[in-house]
Amino acid sequence: MTTAGAVGAEAQYPVWDRVVRTIHWYFPLAIGTMWWSGEQGRMDIHEWVGYSMIVAVLTRIVWGFIGSEAARFGHFLTGPSGVWRYLRQGGKHRGHTPLGALSVIALLILLLAQSVSGTMSSDDLLFEGPFSYWAGDWAGAVTEWHETNWRLLQVFIALHLLAIGWYQFRKKEPLIQAMWRGRSGTKFSQTPPSPQWRAVLTAVAVVGLLGALIAVAPEAPSYY
Ligand code: HEM
Ligand code: HEM
Repeated sequence: MTTAGAVGAEAQYPVWDRVVRTIHWYFPLAIGTMWWSGEQGRMDIHEWVGYSMIVAVLTRIVWGFIGSEAARFGHFLTGPSGVWRYLRQGGKHRGHTPLGALSVIALLILLLAQSVSGTMSSDDLLFEGPFSYWAGDWAGAVTEWHETNWRLLQVFIALHLLAIGWYQFRKKEPLIQAMWRGRSGTKFSQTPPSPQWRAVLTAVAVVGLLGALIAVAPEAPSYY
């Protein structure tokens, strides 16, 4: 076969499609901004970048059902026996390894919890998230969760970076290049990627839904 991206008899497509890569590299960029703005109390920036994180994470989650092969949860989630087999025997995987898959899920859940809890948090001063009123008496607990969840997220990000570093530099597997360019020597897909417009449509729908919720959410009572 001599189509573009084909080598020998095997068609080769990116293992990480453009949607996965764009959302992935947005994470460190946005999280850095969220860390800085959260610590500095720059809620004007924190709020809007936070909304963009909700859109990015939810789009990635939906992409886990309608996206390209290696992006789909059904493709890389294996259950305890698959993880155990991988731990004992290892083995090559074109997409996420069974253990890597668990860290992907943990990171996505923590990112979602972080951004959703933010929308119900308050800095007890000038800013409260748009859904604070709905949190009612739980608003204080949710704000505490926003801080605790952040510590958990830091731990998982550190583990993520250590794991990537281990594969990249000790096992000489060019994972970072694959996440940047879509594929590397051993990491490629034989299935064409899903059309990107589906992800764009998903992101637009999430923006619409979030905007509508923010518009209808009642303001929390002010004590000042
Ligand atoms: C700091 C915030 C970060 C977060 C929240 C994060 C999160 C994630 C997530 C959720 C995935 C799964 C990708 C998917 O299927 O959608 C992933 C994969 C990956 N990340 Fe990150 N990441 C971060 C930073 C980084 C950095 C700084 C690097 C590079 C130095 C990196 C390298 C990778 C690589 C290479 C993969 C693919 C792993 C594989 O081949 O299975 N990540 N990351
Ligand atoms: C992934 C997304 C997010 C990250 C990584 C993040 C991170 C942080 C960090 C590091 C802090 C400082 C915590 C501290 O002082 O100990 C913070 C505080 C805060 N964040 Fe977020 N945040 C996110 C999303 C959001 C969103 C979407 C909102 C609301 C729209 C929000 C609202 C707040 C508020 C109100 C505080 C102040 C809490 C306090 O003073 O205790 N956050 N956030």
